[in-house]
Amino acid sequence: MDTRRGWIGTIGTLLGACPASPVALLYSDLPPPARALAADLGVTAETFPAYRTAQRATLTRRIVAGSAEQITYYLLQSRSFTILPPLAPLGLARLPNQHLPAEVAQRLAAWRAAAKAAEDGPDERLRLVAGLTRTLPADWTLERCYDHTMAFLRERLLGEQAPEAVNALYQRRGLLADSARANTAVLTTASPHLGQPKRILLAGPGLDLTRREGFDDAAPLEQPQWDWLRQRFGPDVAIDAVDVRPEVLAFLRGRKRCAVEADITDEIPATGAYDLAIATNLFVYLDDRGLLLALAGMARALRPGGCLLHNDGRFAAKVFGGAVGLPVVQFAPVALGFRNGREQMDRAVLHRR
Ligand SMILES: C[S@@+](CC[C@H](N)C(=O)[O-])C[C@H]1O[C@@H](n2cnc3c(N)ncnc32)[C@H](O)[C@@H]1O
Repeated sequence: MDTRRGWIGTIGTLLGACPASPVALLYSDLPPPARALAADLGVTAETFPAYRTAQRATLTRRIVAGSAEQITYYLLQSRSFTILPPLAPLGLARLPNQHLPAEVAQRLAAWRAAAKAAEDGPDERLRLVAGLTRTLPADWTLERCYDHTMAFLRERLLGEQAPEAVNALYQRRGLLADSARANTAVLTTASPHLGQPKRILLAGPGLDLTRREGFDDAAPLEQPQWDWLRQRFGPDVAIDAVDVRPEVLAFLRGRKRCAVEADITDEIPATGAYDLAIATNLFVYLDDRGLLLALAGMARALRPGGCLLHNDGRFAAKVFGGAVGLPVVQFAPVALGFRNGREQMDRAVLHRR
């Protein structure tokens, strides 16, 4: 970064303006205890650049894989571009014959006929999905997107899996934007401990674009966490969102919300700028190396006394938090209600710098 850009960035940060470009996380940003943990995980000063390069390639692949899944859920269930009946993704994943079913082929054909017009049409969700299909690499046909999605569903949902296997699957799977109002339960639980922040870093706000099951076009296209924060802290709080998915960034920018494109294991929007950082349902996508670097980045992004809220239950989050100067100060269970007769639980984990 040249000196002038650095100064403009610093002044902008002080004024609370949306950062124009993110700040890279360097190996030298890791405090000594975090370097020792990184070395245990195979990342040293020497291997850091190669690790970074590999991570960037992996991120690109995972964004495409996430697009493939989101497109498939939408194309199977939406009523907005066809009068063909919606198809349940999970029901299709259970079919013993894994060839493309005729009714799926019909829906894909209907989409191909409708996609061009959708790009300029009035339906924002349709436009965003059309944008995602347009930016798929050439070898990711709609059929490949479907096969990819079915393979994920079969691995994830059919048959019992040990929690470790589910965690490992999430750490390599495609990155999705999915969000829902129910996900604000973690924020509500932690609410009494969040103080009155002036500036918030919302990492991975997501977007309620499509759903794996029970998608309904009538559901509002929204970012429930962004809305929750605005309602809880009022119109004057600055919220800087950071994400890697194109439709999430497009949605934010379309509403003149601050949207910084960055992988939080690699870059942060600004240093020492935030009173509160939120990262729910995001760390689940990171392996231990990614989690350590993301926490180091959050520690750099927060002001002294600032808090990070997430919902990752790994013991490593506690150990890594301590090593980067962000010890855990609160841990609370979050009840999400019952599904299929089983109580669903989440957790709120609060670190303080
Ligand atoms: C499952 S959504 C969760 C949305 C929301 N936080 C919630 O709890 O409802 C995960 C979000 O994190 C973003 N994301 C995943 N990995 C990321 C990374 N390394 N850096 C920045 N954003 C990331 C995804 O693009 C997506 O928007």
